[in-house]
Amino acid sequence: MKEKILGYLKKEHEYLSGDEIASRLGISRQGLWKHIQDLKDSGYDIVAVPHLGYRLLSSPDRLFALEITHGLNTKFIAKKIHYFDYLASTMDLAMQLGMQSAVNGTLVLAESQTKGRGRLGRNWFSPKYKGIYLSLILRPKIPPSVSPVLTLLSAVSICEAVKKVGGLDAQIKWPNDIFINNKKIAGILTELNAEVDKVNFVVIGIGLNVNNDKSALIAQATSLKEQLGQPISRVGLLQELLRRIENNYSLFEDRGAKAIIDKCRSFSLTLGRRVKIYCQDKHIEGAAVDIDQDGALLIRKDSGLVQKVFSGDVMHCRQP
Ligand code: BTN
Repeated sequence: MKEKILGYLKKEHEYLSGDEIASRLGISRQGLWKHIQDLKDSGYDIVAVPHLGYRLLSSPDRLFALEITHGLNTKFIAKKIHYFDYLASTMDLAMQLGMQSAVNGTLVLAESQTKGRGRLGRNWFSPKYKGIYLSLILRPKIPPSVSPVLTLLSAVSICEAVKKVGGLDAQIKWPNDIFINNKKIAGILTELNAEVDKVNFVVIGIGLNVNNDKSALIAQATSLKEQLGQPISRVGLLQELLRRIENNYSLFEDRGAKAIIDKCRSFSLTLGRRVKIYCQDKHIEGAAVDIDQDGALLIRKDSGLVQKVFSGDVMHCRQP
């Protein structure tokens, strides 16, 4: 009901009479008034003028499902949204929902996380209303070995959305970090529920620093606010990100991994650099020469041998 009221108010830039809204929805004026109070309590600035009706002056930058859905126009991404003021981690809930047969494209969003997880057992700092913390459930028809391409697909989508909304050039530090001006702005965590030859579902977790103040970030991290010198709409950015993920997912389904890897190369911060990759108790050092069709990084070692690396903690060495 509140979604519909908001939809009418967002469409109408002038006052909309209470009688008209109430009759469109088949509710009493008293009932309408209660919904309007709820919306105001959620941060919507709505004025009521006798004989004229209601008018929406501004919406809060909250990732409410009704904000994200309004004007999103995706076909399957975020058709179902689970929104929370806080969660331990959006990954845990998304994994549970995946096991309970949540539909392809189901989105879990939290305004803050108390135990946000990063790769390799690290934490993801998730302060309230500052960033975007999401987990997306996807059901691709692929074998588990192809799933790293979905991490790269998400990375490409983040770079494209950041460029479109903020005009900034973001780059991918293989395989899952997004950097702007050599500082980390976003991270991706991909978790899999799979059988030997078939993925049941994938959960893509994305943490993106948006309106964090510089003083609240570690030196190696940045936010879009720091880079732009002003805060930006998290709602607008998230909508663009979801559209990009949907477009890239369709591209992947229609044209295969190559189309995604080609885009990934163009956003890569890692290719062409000397890197050291820590993988369990070993490390590999050499030049990062390419990304393979399955998303693996190709390293040319000093011996000339090219080695394929599927995962690991990448350190970019200083350029000579
Ligand atoms: C990394 O850089 O190591 C990956 C960070 C991924 C963080 C996101 S925030 C939303 C989702 N929920 C989590 O607990 N983690 C991911």
